[in-house]
Amino acid sequence: MLSIVVPTYNERDNVEQLVERITAAVHVPFEIVFVDDSRDDTPQILARLAAKYPQVRFLHREGERGLGSAVVTGFRIARGDLLAVMDADLQHPPEKLMDLVREAERGADIVIPSRFVPGGSDGGLSPSRKLVSWTARWMARALLRRVRPVTDPTSGFFLVRRRVVEGVELSPIGWKILIEVLVKGRYERVVEIPYAFEARAAGESKMGLREQWEYLVHLVRLVASSPEDRRFWLYCLVGASGVVVNFTIYWMLVNLAHLYVPLAGALAALAAMTSNFILNDRFTWRDARGGRLHVRASRFLVVSATGVLISAGILELIHRGVHYLLANLIASGAAVWWNFTLNNRWTWAG
Ligand code: GDD
Ligand code: MN
Repeated sequence: MLSIVVPTYNERDNVEQLVERITAAVHVPFEIVFVDDSRDDTPQILARLAAKYPQVRFLHREGERGLGSAVVTGFRIARGDLLAVMDADLQHPPEKLMDLVREAERGADIVIPSRFVPGGSDGGLSPSRKLVSWTARWMARALLRRVRPVTDPTSGFFLVRRRVVEGVELSPIGWKILIEVLVKGRYERVVEIPYAFEARAAGESKMGLREQWEYLVHLVRLVASSPEDRRFWLYCLVGASGVVVNFTIYWMLVNLAHLYVPLAGALAALAAMTSNFILNDRFTWRDARGGRLHVRASRFLVVSATGVLISAGILELIHRGVHYLLANLIASGAAVWWNFTLNNRWTWAG
């Protein structure tokens, strides 16, 4: 069975039409599970709809509010093997639901209607909301590896097989339940299909500054909870601290100790490398420390040295065609990636 979970907050003018369109469009056994936090008379309308349509169920929450938690509640009370989520305001066309089901039947674990694959469109948001939405998507994809392959991870419209989320502790703060599912869920195949995101049928959007702030907190929490992402971003943070250490010591040795400049540079680099190693050993790969300290330290040294060689090699290849600052950015970026990968697989492999 297909369970369609619909979070509602003051959607009195939309729910009836939504139920009608779903009922007309869906040709497999289904239920619609409304999780409602409304302050208007939406619950009364839902009660009437539930009496009229056997497929409609609803839960009204008094104390609690929040889109993400409403969806999690919906998952909990849903009975189907396939769990779809959509907004109540008809921005997500119910006529797409059967396409989602079909993709799941073909073996997808998660199906996401996307505004950003060929054939999709994003007509439903104002230009300023589009910019916010673009930034939100870009941040999620930059920070979280499992989100990266998805073009529309902030969508409020998607379908998952029950086993993707069963037993998984979902605790989204704010709105973006799909990102939570993508990071924490158990799945292999994600499929995106195009759809047209339309303008709202009636009423207004509930998205505000508070939701945007919560999104940032949510992202940071997801990075912290996901080992692969946490490591990489801690590594970058440690690297940045190394730059600070390097420049501070260099400045002190030159200005206070009046050391010969190249010697000061070498000592500063050595100090930064040492502090990077200690911090990475203490924090970034805290749970992956195997073997002896001096083995890890010498591996770290080897990796760092090859990183320098790689960066020099890349500079040699590109510096004639590319601005020298940009060239350094590319070369150092490649070195960071190389160092991280090798440290991850070798230095702290155990
Ligand atoms: N239960 C409950 N509790 N539902 C809520 C709450 C809440 O606190 N806040 C909002 N909703 C419901 C709305 O009633 C609607 O059905 C759905 O969540 C989406 O809210 P909108 O206010 O319509 O959001 P939007 O159109 O600005 O943004 C939507 O589309 C974007 C693009 O797909 C959301 O789905 C975004 O998450 C999505 O990025
Ligand atoms: Mn909407």
